Amino acid sequence: MAILVTGGAGYIGSHTCIELLNENYEIIIVDNFSNSKKESLERIRKITNKDFGFYEVDLLDQANLEKVFIENDIEAVIHFAGFKAVGESVQIPLSYYHNNITGTLILCELMAKYKVYNMVFSSSATVYGMSETVPISEDFPLGATNPYGKTKLMIEEILGDLVVSNPDWSIAILRYFNPIGAHKSGLIGEDPNGIPNNLMPYIAQVAVGKLKELTVFGNDYDTLDGTGIRDYIHVVDLALGHLKALQYILEHNGIDAYNLGTGDGYSVLQVVEEFEQASGVKIPFTIRSRRPGDIPVCYANPIKSKEKLNWTAKRGIREMCEDTWRWQQNNPNGYEEKKMHEIYCNYLEKVNMMKGRKSCAISYILTRKSS
Ligand code: UFG
Repeated sequence: MAILVTGGAGYIGSHTCIELLNENYEIIIVDNFSNSKKESLERIRKITNKDFGFYEVDLLDQANLEKVFIENDIEAVIHFAGFKAVGESVQIPLSYYHNNITGTLILCELMAKYKVYNMVFSSSATVYGMSETVPISEDFPLGATNPYGKTKLMIEEILGDLVVSNPDWSIAILRYFNPIGAHKSGLIGEDPNGIPNNLMPYIAQVAVGKLKELTVFGNDYDTLDGTGIRDYIHVVDLALGHLKALQYILEHNGIDAYNLGTGDGYSVLQVVEEFEQASGVKIPFTIRSRRPGDIPVCYANPIKSKEKLNWTAKRGIREMCEDTWRWQQNNPNGYEEKKMHEIYCNYLEKVNMMKGRKSCAISYILTRKSS
């Protein structure tokens, strides 16, 4: 029996696949690479020394997605695939609704058809909207403020209706706080498209010299230093939360939501300081006005996950910064690095062939550096 991982090449998906493989689960990854790179799959193989099934399929492509269910004996689905940029979702709401919601509907229809009733769903703390108090518990009022968050909330409701319609379903909704960090190997990590929107990848790109300076959005919040506070969680802890949720749903029916956070909040300036200490690199920043839509403080009450899933986050903020830095230093251009290197090697090979030589010292050095 296999675990189907949608969006398994992405940031959180790839880290979860590694932990699944480490625990000897058989996995099948489905990804359309809309916001991820093929290279991440190679890195998963390299880290785990294990193989897995892979289909390059869009969830909206029902016929090809159905093949995955026909060709494999699937026990459960961990559903990551979806668009995830808050700002972009405001610009192109229809794409977000269509991709995230229709994609999930198609997936659920196929799961029902092939009697795969177990799902772990990738939700977000964004479903708590402008929460008035902290720490945030799962029973707090829900209400998203942007199309991305609304797709998460709507999917949570759709999944709830599904469980009411058929008690065979077993679903864990995981509400992530702020995932950062990277795998210890430095081989996989967050590789955002274009200029990062989120704090940690932005800091990391400033540190590596790709961006000039950080903009701190507001220092006039009612917090210890005036900057926004968030619950940053190491992506490996988050990944391990999926394994605990998977074990839980395989033994219990019904649906429930769980916060995946540490329960601790750090301000923007505290994160900058931790990163500077972890990396030894100074992060220049300028304070500007608040970013529209930001809340002052957000951190989890993670007690329910501890009690029901037997999961707690173990890695602290310093380790999150160290691991982010290792990934960023090793891969200053994310997964593209290898591609650029390959293009350059191919070019060198052509030049050398023209010169009648088979290889050259530069390509040898480059190959050694990237391996
Ligand atoms: N920030 C800056 N400068 C930046 C980026 C962020 O000062 O360049 C600040 C923000 O104002 C905020 C904090 O850093 O105070 C964290 O911001 P992020 O953009 O990293 O994260 P958010 O909390 O805004 O949102 C993230 C995800 C959402 C998810 C949410 C859940 O981007 O998808 O966490 O809590 F829904």
